[in-house]
Amino acid sequence: MKASPLAVAGVVLASTAHAQVVQFDIEKRHDAPSLCKRDATIDGTLSNQKVQGGYFINVEVGTPGQNITLQLDTGSSDVWVPASTAAICTQTSQRNPGCTFGSFNSDDSSTFQVVGENLFDITYVDGSSSKGDYIEDTFRINGINIQNLTMGLGLDTSIANGLVGVGYINDEASLGTTRQTYPNLPVVLQQQKLINTVAFSLWLNDLDASTGSILFGGIDTEKYHGDLTRINIISPDGGKTFTEFAVNLYQVQASSPSGTDTLSTSQQTLTAVLDSGTTLTYLPQDMAEQAWNEVGASFSDELGIAVVPCSVGNINGHFAFTFAGADGPTINVTLSELVLDLFSGGPPPQFSSGPNKGQSICEFGIQNTTDAPYLLGDTFLRSAFVTYDLVNNEIGIAPTNFNSTQTNVVAFASSGAPIPSSTSAPNQSNTGHSSSTQSGMSAASGFHDGDDDNAASLTGAFSGPGMIVVGLTICYTLLGSAVFGVGWL
Ligand SMILES: *[C@@H]1O[C@H](CO)[C@@H](O)[C@H](O)[C@H]1NC(C)=O
Ligand SMILES: *[C@@H]1O[C@H](CO)[C@@H](O)[C@H](O)[C@H]1NC(C)=O
Ligand SMILES: *[C@@H]1O[C@H](CO)[C@@H](O)[C@H](O)[C@H]1NC(C)=O
Ligand SMILES: *[C@@H]1O[C@H](CO)[C@@H](O)[C@H](O)[C@H]1NC(C)=O
Ligand SMILES: *[C@@H]1O[C@H](CO)[C@@H](O)[C@H](O)[C@H]1NC(C)=O
Ligand SMILES: *[C@@H]1O[C@H](CO)[C@@H](O)[C@H](O)[C@H]1NC(C)=O
Repeated sequence: MKASPLAVAGVVLASTAHAQVVQFDIEKRHDAPSLCKRDATIDGTLSNQKVQGGYFINVEVGTPGQNITLQLDTGSSDVWVPASTAAICTQTSQRNPGCTFGSFNSDDSSTFQVVGENLFDITYVDGSSSKGDYIEDTFRINGINIQNLTMGLGLDTSIANGLVGVGYINDEASLGTTRQTYPNLPVVLQQQKLINTVAFSLWLNDLDASTGSILFGGIDTEKYHGDLTRINIISPDGGKTFTEFAVNLYQVQASSPSGTDTLSTSQQTLTAVLDSGTTLTYLPQDMAEQAWNEVGASFSDELGIAVVPCSVGNINGHFAFTFAGADGPTINVTLSELVLDLFSGGPPPQFSSGPNKGQSICEFGIQNTTDAPYLLGDTFLRSAFVTYDLVNNEIGIAPTNFNSTQTNVVAFASSGAPIPSSTSAPNQSNTGHSSSTQSGMSAASGFHDGDDDNAASLTGAFSGPGMIVVGLTICYTLLGSAVFGVGWL
C-alpha cells in the first residue's frame, strides 16, 4: 500500500536523515554532471546519457579526491575506474575522445593500495573488457567517505568510462581470478550501518528527463503508482546462489487503440535480467521480430540494429511486460519511451527507400538476440520503479511515476526485512510462458495511427520474419561504435 504523501521535495531529507537510506540522484550525461547535496543524506547525481545511453554518477576516488563519473550498472558487481595511463585515455584521436568521464591517477593518491595485482579482469556481454589490478582506496560520494573500498583499476580497457556495479557479490569479476568475493559497494554501505539491509531502488524517470535516482536502503513511495509487487529473483542453481537480477518474464503484449496481441516465443520459460547498464531491451529473436512487425520497425544491416521511423514515438500504444506468472505485475512501456534518437547533434538520417522513404530514422528500444541472457535495459527500466533486495532475493516493481517531484522515502526496517509497503505476487510457480502461438496482429494498425498507406506498406514489407532489409541514407560518418546506444554492459 502506498504510504501517505506527507513529504515534498526538499523536505524529505529531514525524514531520511535518521532513516538509514543513502540516495544518489542520477543524471543524463549530456547535461553537465552536477552534484546535488541535500541535508544529511548522501545524494549524488546519476546522469542519463540519452544517445550513447546509460546513467552516470559522480564520485571522488583517492586522497585528495579525483573526480570521476561512473556508469551505474545493475548487471555487474565491481566498481572500477580507468587508469590515467590506460591507452584508451592517453591515445586520443578523432575516433577516440579519450577518458572524458575522468580517469584515476594512482600516483596522486596517498591512500592507494594494490590488493590484487593483475587480478581484475572483467568482460561484459558485448565483448568489451577491462583488465588491471584490484585496488583499495577512498571512495567518496557526495561527501560520504568509504575508506579502503575494493575497486578495479582498468589499466588495459576497451571502455573509456568506469562503472559502479551494484549487483550480487557472486557476480564479482574476482571470482574468475581468485575464486573469492569481497564486500562490494552495497554490502559495504550496509556493513558501515549507512543502510539497514543490502537493497536499493532505482528510478530512472522519463527518457526526456535529465535525472533519476538510486536510493540505497529504502524505497520512495512517491516515485511509483499503485503498490510495489514482489517477485522472486531467479537463481541459476535452484536457490543456492544468486548472481544476477534475473526474473521470469511471463508475457509481453503489444497494445494499441486497435487491439492487443500477445508476442509468442518458442522458449518454454523466459528469464530476463534487469540491467541498468544496458541501454536497450533485448528479447528472443522471434519475440523481437513480432514487436518490430507491430510498430513497423525493421532491422538495418548497415547499422546492425532495429530501426523505426521517429514518428512512431508519437503513437498512442504500449508494450505490456508481465512478470512471474499471469497474476504478476505488469509494466506498460509506451512507444514514446521506445523510440530513441540515433545521434545527439544534427538532423537524424532518413530512410532512402521502402515504405518509410523520406522519414527520419530512430533506434527502436526493443532489439533481438539469439541467445540468453535476455536483457531488460534502460528502455524498459525507465517505465518502472524497481527495488532490488539482495538479502531476500526479491525484486519489487511498480509502474513509474514519471517526473515526480515529490518524495516520501521509507527505509527497510532491518537487515532481511521485506521491501516496505509491498505485496508478494501470487501464483509465482506458474511461470511457464503464456503463449506459444502468436495471437495475430490486431494492434498493428493502431500503432500506425489509422494511416492505411503506412499499414499496408508495412504488411507488404514483411515477406517473412526478419526478412526485411531497409535502405538507409547515412548522413553522418559513423565515428566508432560509441555513436549508437547499443553498448550493453
Ligand atoms: C570535483 O567536483 C567538485 C564538485 O563538482 C568540485 O567542487 C571540485 O572542485 C572538483 N575537483 C576537481 C579536482 O576537479
Ligand atoms: C585502510 O587500509 C589501511 C592500510 O591497510 C589501514 O591502515 C587502515 O586502517 C584501513 N582503514 C580502514 C577504515 O579500514
Ligand atoms: C517529463 O518531463 C520531460 C521534460 O523534462 C518531458 O519532456 C516529458 O514529456 C515528461 N514526461 C511525462 C511522462 O510527463
Ligand atoms: C496498461 O495497459 C492496459 C491496457 O493494455 C491497461 O488496462 C492497464 O491499466 C495499464 N496499466 C497501467 C499500470 O497503466
Ligand atoms: C492464484 O492465487 C490465488 C490466491 O492468491 C488463488 O485464489 C488462485 O486460485 C490462484 N490461481 C491459480 C491458477 O493458481
Ligand atoms: C537480429 O536480427 C537480424 C535480422 O533477422 C539478424 O540479421 C541479426 O543477426 C540478429 N542479431 C542477433 C544478435 O541475433
